[in-house]
Amino acid sequence: METQILKKDQLDTAVEFLRKGELVAFPTETVYGLGALATDERAVKAVYAAKGRPSDNPLIVTVSDAAMMSRFAREVPDRAKKLIDSFWPGPLTILLFVKPGSLPEAVTGGLDTVAFRCPDDSLTHELIAKLGEPIVGPSANTSTKPSPTTAQHVFHDLKGKIAAIVDGGQTEIGLESTIVDLSVKTPIVLRPGEITPEALQKVLGETVLMNNGQAQTSGVPKAPGMKYRHYAPAAPVFIVDHPEDFKQIKFDDQTAFVALDDVLSRLPNKIQSFSLGKNTDEAAHRLFEALRYFDDRPQVKQIYVQGFTHGKICAAYMNRLNKAAGGHHLEPRVR
Ligand code: TXA
Ligand code: MG
Repeated sequence: METQILKKDQLDTAVEFLRKGELVAFPTETVYGLGALATDERAVKAVYAAKGRPSDNPLIVTVSDAAMMSRFAREVPDRAKKLIDSFWPGPLTILLFVKPGSLPEAVTGGLDTVAFRCPDDSLTHELIAKLGEPIVGPSANTSTKPSPTTAQHVFHDLKGKIAAIVDGGQTEIGLESTIVDLSVKTPIVLRPGEITPEALQKVLGETVLMNNGQAQTSGVPKAPGMKYRHYAPAAPVFIVDHPEDFKQIKFDDQTAFVALDDVLSRLPNKIQSFSLGKNTDEAAHRLFEALRYFDDRPQVKQIYVQGFTHGKICAAYMNRLNKAAGGHHLEPRVR
């Protein structure tokens, strides 16, 4: 299959492909998603196959608005309405009970909940509105690889496996949406993103918990995707917690440095590096691109990436970086 790259005036082609049960990747403000008609079981199963994704890791359902969502939710509680009013369209995914029989089991992985997302992207909004049906929307990467922030990243991973990619340029945020579970008594953030638990708490006027990895109680995992290796380039990644510790790392062709401009500018200029930009927002935007960049340079055998403790996006950034690094930090020299 030849994978077409579609421009914004070719949305009708994308709609036709989706109607026929083909796969089409689409832009969002976070990362690119891999779309298929959510009501078409065969198309949904093809998404798992294209990504190489385990079948027990459910898919997000991407809608054009809350009205479309309500066709597939068992009920829409008041707190969901409040969050939708404040944050949709935007980088917040909301978990509700699914309306039984409204979606193929392959979408929810057999769970009784479903994750709804309404991206802030005019192309994708128009695409779903024209289709009149929701599309599933996992990140459009091969399973375990960093999420794609450009159409070229999607092409790299999925060329020949999907019908088309709608090219909306580089994504704005660069890390996936916040996921909040509203199917439980106390709302809980299952995946951190740009919208923080504090921001949710402010709108809801009630406590919002943060999943610190312990929310998985007995039986069915709460956020199935969290248990898999993720965002991992071929070379091992190490987190550098203190910028000054970059100086203790040996410089050679096999070693790559990923840090903010002001940190890189203090290191010898012959090092192999990728700039995270000027601040933590830019770093969030570029993290996945950095990991992919060195994946295409097989001479690189270890990647050192700057960690952060401050900034609104910090929890989301460190969550992804920790997964990419498998929790490995550069051992700091005794100070
Ligand atoms: O920003 C985003 O959310 C992007 C863009 C493309 O919309 N999508 C995305 O999808 O990150 P994905 O599939 O890569 O990550 C969704 C996560 C997975 O970890 C999955 O396990 C979890 O959401 N998830 C989906 N449905 C769920 C459910 N019913 N219960 C618990 N977790 C669920
Ligand atoms: Mg993903």
